[in-house]
Amino acid sequence: MKTTLHLVLAVMLPALLWLPTSAATDVSPAPNGITLPENYQDWRMIGSSSRLDNNTLRVILGNDIAVAAARAGNTNPWPDGAILGKLVWKDTTHAAWQKAVVPGEFVHAEFMFKDARKWSETGGWGFARWTGLEQQPYGKDADFVNECFGCHTPVKSNDYVFTHPASLPGR
Ligand code: HEC
Repeated sequence: MKTTLHLVLAVMLPALLWLPTSAATDVSPAPNGITLPENYQDWRMIGSSSRLDNNTLRVILGNDIAVAAARAGNTNPWPDGAILGKLVWKDTTHAAWQKAVVPGEFVHAEFMFKDARKWSETGGWGFARWTGLEQQPYGKDADFVNECFGCHTPVKSNDYVFTHPASLPGR
């Protein structure tokens, strides 16, 4: 009996200790100090895109503030506190329908955090990316944001955002 109890404890204790740390907090911050938003996987959709030059599919998601702004057409500028997320997968074809392009290998999740004052040097946006299912922070040092910001400058007049929210019935 005693041995069984010890055994149960030996199995249960590590599981109990492990549980509270299993959230997104396990993931290292980006080199500029930005941390991965928790539960971004459950955010709502703002748009989607596909890049023909590198064969990837993307969905653009937003936190509650971003989604409310998108639905209200309040996106130039986006309000402080809005976070836009983009999830990227390699293209693959559906096994049962060759002409259907569907998400394959997960490539990365990347984000833009709106705070006009805090991120004034990069158009009011903080940038961060985590690669792969293991969510490794992207960038050697904080200078990686120049790459992000640089490529987003062609859409400066749209608050540095490429995505135009997709139209939705009843919204
Ligand atoms: C080579 C150019 C390029 C670079 C570099 C780049 N982006 Fe983008 N980004 C785009 C384009 C084009 C889109 C819109 C098309 C799409 O959905 O992929 C976009 C879209 C986004 C979106 C969705 C909001 C929007 O603007 O439409 C986020 C979030 C984002 N990028 C974050 C980042 C982050 C973070 C980095 C740096 C780690 C980065 N980007 C680097 C070109 C770039």
